[in-house]
Amino acid sequence: MKLNWIERLVVNNPLRVMEQKLQIRWMKKVCPVSPEARVLEIGCGRGAGSRLILQEMQPSTIHATDLDFKMIRLARSYLTHNEKDGIFTYVADAAVLPYGDGSFDAIFDFGALHHVPDWRKALMEVARVLKKGGTLYLEELYPTLYQNFITKHLLLHPTQDRFHSEDFRKALTSSGFSFQGSLEWKAVGILGVLTKA
Ligand SMILES: C[S@@+](CC[C@H](N)C(=O)[O-])C[C@H]1O[C@@H](n2cnc3c(N)ncnc32)[C@H](O)[C@@H]1O
Repeated sequence: MKLNWIERLVVNNPLRVMEQKLQIRWMKKVCPVSPEARVLEIGCGRGAGSRLILQEMQPSTIHATDLDFKMIRLARSYLTHNEKDGIFTYVADAAVLPYGDGSFDAIFDFGALHHVPDWRKALMEVARVLKKGGTLYLEELYPTLYQNFITKHLLLHPTQDRFHSEDFRKALTSSGFSFQGSLEWKAVGILGVLTKA
């Protein structure tokens, strides 16, 4: 589900970039990406996360994808000419990824899965296009944060079948992932680094 204007303001600002930089540094400590890695980012928004992944982890290529063409257009103007040598931007639905099985060494999800109505299908797609032994890096939010009595009036999210900590962890395990590291605030969300068996 695409963002409304309020959430676009929340994610497209310098504070969000600082937050993502800290998250990526923590992720790198848990498990760095190798220099030959092919990386996918789902729900990349304006591309700030992909830029930081490139700067901090230096993989060979990043496919930065988003459902919303407006976000991809923003990413194409946000990224520099040089960055676009390593970051390729595409419109794609995380629930129907246009890639073959085992196409990527690493996949990043910064707050996209909780926007997908069929997030379980998207998680299965992520598992499908990730290589065996590949790494999933994620930041996800729980409905206590984005669907509480205030935020449900301000933000636009799917309302059915939302995941909290336990559902999410169960779905990750049944999609073949195991945690290498996590930081979780149960009323907010989770940062995780996982390996696909
Ligand atoms: C909360 S924003 C996060 C943007 C960026 N990753 C960040 O952290 O700043 C969620 C993003 O997911 C995208 N999105 C929503 N549903 C999606 C889907 N089914 N497939 C891919 N991207 C989706 C939205 O368009 C939006 O750009």
